[in-house]
Amino acid sequence: MTQLQPKDNVPSLHETFQAHFRVGAAVNPVTLVSQRELLSRHFNSVTAENEMKFERLQPEEGRFTFEHADNLIDFATSHGMGVRGHTLIWHNQTPAWVFEHREGGPADRQTLLARMQSHIETVVSRYKGLIYAWDVVNEAVSDSGGELLRPSKWLDIAGEDFIAKAFEYAHAADPNALLFYNDYNESVPEKREKIYALVRSLKDKGVPIHGIGLQAHWNLEHPALDDIRQAIERYASLGLKLHVTELDVSVFRHEDRRTDLKRPEAGMLERQAERYGQMFRLFKEYDGHVDSVTFWGAADDYTWLDHFPVRGRKNWPFLFDAAHQPKPSYWNVIDVARS
Ligand code: GLA
Repeated sequence: MTQLQPKDNVPSLHETFQAHFRVGAAVNPVTLVSQRELLSRHFNSVTAENEMKFERLQPEEGRFTFEHADNLIDFATSHGMGVRGHTLIWHNQTPAWVFEHREGGPADRQTLLARMQSHIETVVSRYKGLIYAWDVVNEAVSDSGGELLRPSKWLDIAGEDFIAKAFEYAHAADPNALLFYNDYNESVPEKREKIYALVRSLKDKGVPIHGIGLQAHWNLEHPALDDIRQAIERYASLGLKLHVTELDVSVFRHEDRRTDLKRPEAGMLERQAERYGQMFRLFKEYDGHVDSVTFWGAADDYTWLDHFPVRGRKNWPFLFDAAHQPKPSYWNVIDVARS
């Protein structure tokens, strides 16, 4: 009898990193179909790219729309994958009604917090035990200037303790879910210190927060590896878990605005592979803290970076190419696990 050989000699990404952390991908209703095989083979965690955001789950007050989110949960459950919930409270992709009085004009603090509570309670309870970690508050910290928190309707109306309230409501709804504060530019020293200060103050007040999400929308040069290391160390010093939540590595440097490339140019994929290798070496080194690494997509056939920040520009930010085949970046990452 001939022995069955594995379909190919491409090892499963998540199995390769089993001893270190989960490996996740953001998905949407289209990629759940078009990337089905790739997802189930290489990833053991999924996150909804958009389908669990406030505007998708409660477009009108009291009218919840769970169909796509439920489908994602079913997909994960049937493939033995975990789910990271994203995201409960954010200044974006939140419907206008949340901040308005039914009779017009801005809502008052009490009304806004009651809406927050009912949203969080409904959503988190529905997926209780099915979602291992939630991004409770997304991007509340300001990028620039001396201010700690970004101006937003949540902040204007409810005041700065809207953040603590969100965590308390989420914890009450599912005491076993890990609760995260999630942000981008998390490795930029100035913003890193603000995120640190915010999370530290939450911890000091006894707010139920368990981790910091590093979005990790990175590129070939930024952030510098050393800044990533310092961010990991600084956040880890709070004794919290760290999740890399939205990893992608754009092949374009910040000032590169070209839209004419039909494929990555010479050197880009090699440099990307070098970067991915360095990053995963760091994640592995800090695997006592980092226990989940999620890409903001799975393969180069679909990425939000095809439209952002340069309109109509194709990007190639992942470990798998548009045909779902491993790129040099994939092999470098696999080498890290094996070394
Ligand atoms: C932020 C959000 C994500 C997503 C990306 C862009 O990082 O946290 O939900 O919207 O922007 O795709």
